[in-house]
Amino acid sequence: MSDKPVTRRLFFALWPDDATRVRIARLARELPRKRGRPMVSENLHATLAFVGNVSESAASCLETRAAKVPLAPFDLQLDRTGCFSRAGVMWLGAGQIPSALERMVRDLNIALAPCGYAPDPKPFHLHITLFRKARPSPETPEAVEPIPWRVEGFSLIESVSIRGGVRYHSVRDYTN
Ligand code: 2AM
Repeated sequence: MSDKPVTRRLFFALWPDDATRVRIARLARELPRKRGRPMVSENLHATLAFVGNVSESAASCLETRAAKVPLAPFDLQLDRTGCFSRAGVMWLGAGQIPSALERMVRDLNIALAPCGYAPDPKPFHLHITLFRKARPSPETPEAVEPIPWRVEGFSLIESVSIRGGVRYHSVRDYTN
């Protein structure tokens, strides 16, 4: 028996409905300039708060506290791609960030603090990773045909290692 403490790898994310997921995956497939290793479509998401590996009791605290975040649905337009060159990530994002989304991130950070969660000090940058191990490329975002996304809430996602990669699955969906 291993003495390694049991942990779960967690993050909070906007999790696309099936129709939006299909459209995002199609956009990634049809981009004129493909870069790097594509994300499997089942894993496409936009992270709100990355937690990392935590104990079962911390996981339970996070899951409970996140339910305190007030939910106000909003519309997102996914209308630009860009790159985080240093991280080798090519992403899909939004030119306009609704104030309801900014509030959601802020409220989530506040709600999770008692569980020991420390938010990323970098400013929030909504993005859906489309490709990893992307070669360095200009950071300037490029416009794409907008994908409308009605966001009703967010999800607690667990990252599970599977043969040949990871699979993300929802532990709990937070919607009204
Ligand atoms: P990314 O898409 O920009 O790589 C699961 O790993 C999710 O959490 C990914 O969406 C990832 O963002 C995000 N994330 C944020 N900070 C992270 C970190 N320090 N390590 C791993 N993933 C992180």
